[in-house]
Amino acid sequence: MIEKINPALRNKATEYWSDFQYIFRTLYPNSEERDLLDIIETINTSYLNRKDSLKEIDKKRELATDWYLDQKWVATMLYVDLYAGNLKEMENRLPYLRELGVNYVHLMPLLEPREGQADGGYAVKNFRKVNTKLGDNEDLIALIDKMHTEDQIIAIDFVMNHTAKEHEWAQSILKGENRFKDFYYMFPDRTMPDQFERTLPEVFPDFAPGNFTYQKEINQWVWTTFNDYQWDLNYSEPKVFNAMLGEMLFLANLGVDVLRLDAVPFLWKKMGTNCQNQEEAVMLLVAYKYLIQLVAPGVLFKSEAIVAPNDIIRYLGAGGYEGKACEIGYNATLMNHLWHALACENTILLRTTLSKLPSIPPSSTWINYIRCHDDIGWGISDQNAADVGQNGHETRLFCSAFYTGDWPNSFAQGYSFQIDSSNGESRISGSTAALIGIQKSFIENKKEDLALAIHRFKLLHGIIFFMKGIPLVYAGDEIGHLNNFDYLKDGEKREDNRWLHRPAMDWEKALLRKEAGTVENTLFNIISNLSNRRKETHCLHGNAKETVILLESNTIFCVEKTLKEENILLIANVSSDFQMISKKALPEKWQGNYFRDEISLETHIYEGDTLFFPPYGVFWLTEKVGEIPHSKGYRIKMEAQTIPGESVYFIENVSSVSIGEKPRKISCYWVDDLGWHADVNLVQGEWISYHWVKMYGNNLIEKSKDYYYRAI
Ligand code: GLC
Repeated sequence: MIEKINPALRNKATEYWSDFQYIFRTLYPNSEERDLLDIIETINTSYLNRKDSLKEIDKKRELATDWYLDQKWVATMLYVDLYAGNLKEMENRLPYLRELGVNYVHLMPLLEPREGQADGGYAVKNFRKVNTKLGDNEDLIALIDKMHTEDQIIAIDFVMNHTAKEHEWAQSILKGENRFKDFYYMFPDRTMPDQFERTLPEVFPDFAPGNFTYQKEINQWVWTTFNDYQWDLNYSEPKVFNAMLGEMLFLANLGVDVLRLDAVPFLWKKMGTNCQNQEEAVMLLVAYKYLIQLVAPGVLFKSEAIVAPNDIIRYLGAGGYEGKACEIGYNATLMNHLWHALACENTILLRTTLSKLPSIPPSSTWINYIRCHDDIGWGISDQNAADVGQNGHETRLFCSAFYTGDWPNSFAQGYSFQIDSSNGESRISGSTAALIGIQKSFIENKKEDLALAIHRFKLLHGIIFFMKGIPLVYAGDEIGHLNNFDYLKDGEKREDNRWLHRPAMDWEKALLRKEAGTVENTLFNIISNLSNRRKETHCLHGNAKETVILLESNTIFCVEKTLKEENILLIANVSSDFQMISKKALPEKWQGNYFRDEISLETHIYEGDTLFFPPYGVFWLTEKVGEIPHSKGYRIKMEAQTIPGESVYFIENVSSVSIGEKPRKISCYWVDDLGWHADVNLVQGEWISYHWVKMYGNNLIEKSKDYYYRAI
């Protein structure tokens, strides 16, 4: 049969075809030769239609197969209409993205959707036609070509699991025709749906309860996991496999670099299961991967599987399909565990979960993100929670309560999304700025809270820009989009509060990035600096070995990366307090006194045994230290209130000074109206920990709490 494949592909076909056939026959034991011949026809036609310029890109990428593991990639995701109006205008926004350091752009669903409600474009009517409101296929091709000339890459959604009810396949069935009758799951009565429902969860219980929809025109129950107008495709039919292969390769031939495979856990249904994450769903992706490697090898697969930690990694090939499934996956585990860590100022669940996860295949990588267009689901497994002495259900309830602001001292202002009536658990909607405390600090007009919220912003992004994977900044986060309530005025969106965090890009607000002192300027600079610093830091390449270091301190998330001779250490303090750790807790190579923080490029000096980290501090430490500056005098203010006759002393805490040295005790002096001060000699970059004491003659009147100071 292989001889039917275009001769230009024959060599490669010998490499892939028999593996493909094996997996295809396992998926479809009753398939006929005709089915394979149809697939070959799709391959040949698609290959002929692939432009030479794309074949050139394919060739280059086949020579540098791990091109996407480079630390140079920084991603964003956006809706073209909300960001730029249309595809032509999108070109004018590329300089802004470049300024931010972004070179991987995920354009959210842009194919022809159904009219009216369309789940943000995830109800596709025609996979081969760009939504006319955004432009046409030529506009998309022109944008891609332009981006390629600037070394930017583009991802688009391939909504594999379902089509809109208005898609021609579904319409043909509704007209009573036979041609596509097996393309969807249909049942003449409730017998089978009821049996399936016994073990099926609901994805949108609030506005789309149940998993089946009655279609009166044909007197059938159609499988609709998501909304009633999104019909699940029946992948147990080889014809569906081939039809969707054709659509996939058509999109690949437009020139996109990454296909984001939407909702992949749902692709295969099996009675008695929750119909998610079935082995066959992974095998389907493996089968498609063989074929895309044949026709369009430059194109990557990104899986959208927002499921439990051990399931997410299967779509990257972990557990038997190493290097054969998707190259990229959304790191929902890191995302939701980071939010959890921030809420409880404790990293124990985060680091335990991450350190227990089997590593992903070396050829695959993550999209690391903290927000996207969807809700945050608390993918915290009961087992992982139990391993750190927590109850999974209660932990998930806590997360929701915290991020809706219903928890004492919460800084967040999110909203519940899809409350599960059986257990009260829910997911969360809301923009980054609202969840992180920026919004609340604005409303309450509290400058100090704003400063803390900005630290949290830097903390979370500092982590996702460090960890293995491609960091993704959700469009508008870099200027602090708040929750937006415009969606309530739109009948098609009103019921779905995910639109809270899907506003139109506020370009006026974006202009403020250029005004020093504005929040927009601070946030934008945090992101653009992280982008620049990441690109310059070779040790952040996807090939680096990554190890989560389990420290005694629960508030510090510590990860080491090693690439050949280079090492880098992430230290992220998720607490609102100063934290210190003993150097001895770190691997030997981190016992030195001088480090450079690769985010700020500042030198940090830790001459004693103790490393200090400020509230929400995030650092990428390396041993690349330049010349150590000389020490000079710093004037440090003491917060002591005194009455006449009392005097104040500055006392350095023993732990902060070098072994063998005595702690300093310095008399403070009074500066009119400004209070008590101490003059201390420090080297720029040095941290000290101190307290003050108030004396009356020889009597100790008061001893302060510990303070921390860094000479900068
Ligand atoms: C994915 C999308 C989400 C959509 C769902 C159904 O999860 O990210 O927005 O609602 O698929 O298509």
